Parts: sequence; structure tokens; C-alpha cells
Amino acid sequence: MYLQTFLVRITLLFVYTAAVWCGDDQRIADELKSPPVEIPLKSVLGEAAYNDAIGSNEYRYVGNDKCRLCHRDFFVGRKQDHHDHAMDYIKESEYSNNPKCLVCHATGYGVKTGFVSMAQTPRLANVQCEGCHGPGSNHLKIAAIEKKGGGFLSGTDRPDRLKKMCKSCHTARWDRSYTDFESAYNKYKKAVPK
Ligand code: HEC
Ligand code: HEC
Ligand code: HEC
Ligand code: HEC
Repeated sequence: MYLQTFLVRITLLFVYTAAVWCGDDQRIADELKSPPVEIPLKSVLGEAAYNDAIGSNEYRYVGNDKCRLCHRDFFVGRKQDHHDHAMDYIKESEYSNNPKCLVCHATGYGVKTGFVSMAQTPRLANVQCEGCHGPGSNHLKIAAIEKKGGGFLSGTDRPDRLKKMCKSCHTARWDRSYTDFESAYNKYKKAVPK
């Protein structure tokens, strides 16, 4: 009787451990088998608006070193954000140059002026400020001349777009970061995440 319970427990423990162990590999294997994910910025704007915006050359990725110049507090807080470490998972692996992974683990991969590779564009590694707000060159111009916000494709004046941005990376397959989307989103309103 006791032996039976014991054996059942051991078996369950083994199955559980194996599931946890292989879980991520399974997600990666599934991702590799699926068609490539659409570029987040493109899926947020739609093809036509995306082509217009990027084709205009008004929207170029500048890298978060630039953001630090004026948003120092924000920047320091964001350094503790996991998004700023998203490349760690793939950087030294066989997937480090795989477009299927870079689209969600780097900034602006697949977009003109966005991340290309660690060798060519290390300053755009990880999911940086512009990974959520979109390319920053237009904002930089407005902020420098008029000393105000605005000029983003996915700025705080467009929460609908910002929300879609989150969800285009946090797809049904990659859904373990939060259980409640609204409170996860609202945390980003504060300069320093707690
Ligand atoms: C659609 C966006 C997306 C794609 C494509 C994607 N990832 Fe991720 N990845 C995420 C998110 C989001 C997380 C954070 C965990 C979560 O929310 O489930 C993550 C987490 C991870 C982790 C950490 C393990 C974990 O479960 O937290 C690894 C390793 C990883 N990804 C590897 C890869 C590899 C390798 C590829 C390419 C085959 C890839 N990812 C493609 C979005 C993506
Ligand atoms: C994971 C996505 C994400 C990243 C990465 C991110 N932000 Fe944001 N940011 C948001 C969201 C969401 C809001 C809140 C939008 C709203 O008000 O609905 C926000 C708000 C802001 C605001 C307005 C804050 C206020 O109090 O009005 C500023 C400024 C800002 N972000 C700058 C930055 C800078 C600078 C970086 C990089 C250091 C950055 N963000 C990185 C998602 C992000
Ligand atoms: C020349 C100074 C300057 C630089 C550089 C700068 N910003 Fe700003 N930014 C401002 C000012 C001023 C505001 C308006 C006041 C505020 O919200 O802090 C602002 C507001 C914002 C907002 C909220 C309003 C909106 O349009 O959504 C976000 C998000 C933001 N900045 C992100 C960034 C990012 C990302 C970078 C780097 C690509 C950056 N900023 C670089 C000065 C700057
Ligand atoms: C370009 C793709 C991308 C976008 C856009 C994005 N994420 Fe993430 N997110 C990731 C990846 C990849 C990770 C895993 C990073 C890690 O664990 O190092 C992650 C991790 C997270 C985490 C867990 C880490 C933590 O800080 O606890 C939360 C919560 C999260 N994202 C919420 C959001 C929200 C809310 C938005 C929109 C405002 C958003 N994400 C936009 C790719 C993205």
C-alpha cells in the first residue's frame, strides 16, 4: 500500500520534472516549425501605414543611449526590466542569428535601420525603449526643438497601438510573462518598475 503510493509519487515527480525541463525546448521547436512571426511594428500599423512610415525615413531606430540623455530616471529603471536582457536567452546559442527568434528578442529586427546582428548593430540588442515605442528619430527631433513628447508610431498618445505591440510579441506560445495583461501594462506607466 505505502509502496504503491510511493511509486506513484515518484512517477509523478519524474513526469513533472521532465515536462518542466523540456517545456522551453518544446516551445522553441514549435516556433522553428511555424511560419515566421510578423514584424511587431508591421502587425501593429498594418502593411500600408508601415510602408509609408518606414519609407518616409522619418522613423529611424537610434538606440537607447540617445534616450538616456533626457530620460535618465526612466533609463535607470528600465535597466532592471527583463526586456533589456531578452538577447541573453539566444545570444550565445545556435539561435543567435535566427530571424525567427530575433524578431521578438531584439529591437526593430527586420525593419530598415533596426537590429541586424550582434556584430553589426550591438546597440540595438534586446527589447529596448524603441522595441515598444517604435523608432525614435522623429521624437528626438521634436523633443530637442520643442522640448516636448510625441512623434512616436507607438507612443503614450496611442495606447491602442502600444497594447497591440505587447501582444504581437507575447503571443499564445510566449504567454508566461504575466497572467493579467492590464496590470502588466500599467506597470510601464511608472518610471521605475517595482
Ligand atoms: C512572438 C515572439 C517570440 C518569438 C518568435 C520567440 N520568442 Fe523567445 N520569448 C518570447 C517571450 C515573450 C518570452 C518570455 C517568456 C514568456 O512570456 O512566455 C520568451 C522567452 C524565451 C526563452 C526563455 C525561456 C522562458 O520560457 O522564459 C528562451 C530560451 C527563448 N525565448 C528562446 C527563443 C528562441 C530560440 C526563439 C526562436 C526559435 C524564440 N525564442 C522566438 C517571445 C518570442
Ligand atoms: C515593454 C514595453 C516598453 C518598453 C521597453 C519601454 N516602454 Fe515606455 N512605456 C510603455 C508603456 C506601456 C507606457 C504607458 C503608456 C500609457 O500611458 O498608456 C510607457 C510610458 C512611457 C513614458 C511616459 C511616462 C509618463 O509618466 O507619462 C515615457 C517617458 C517612456 N515610456 C519612455 C521610455 C523609455 C525612455 C524607455 C527605455 C529606457 C521605455 N519607455 C521603454 C512601454 C514600454
Ligand atoms: C532631447 C531630449 C529627449 C530625448 C533625447 C528623448 N526624449 Fe523622450 N521626451 C522628452 C520630453 C521633453 C518629453 C515630454 C515630457 C515627458 O514626458 O518626460 C518626452 C516624452 C517621451 C515619451 C512620452 C510621450 C510620448 O510621445 O509617448 C516617451 C514614450 C519618450 N519620451 C520616449 C523616448 C525614447 C524611447 C527616447 C530615445 C529614442 C527618447 N524619448 C529620447 C525629451 C527627450
Ligand atoms: C519585441 C517584443 C516584445 C514586446 C513589444 C514586448 N515584450 Fe514583454 N517580453 C519580451 C521578451 C522576449 C521577454 C523575455 C525577456 C526576459 O525574460 O529576459 C519579455 C518579458 C516580459 C515580462 C516579464 C519580465 C518582467 O519584467 O517581469 C513582462 C511582464 C512583459 N514582457 C510585459 C510586456 C508588456 C506589458 C508589453 C507592452 C507594453 C511588452 N511586454 C512588450 C518581448 C516583448
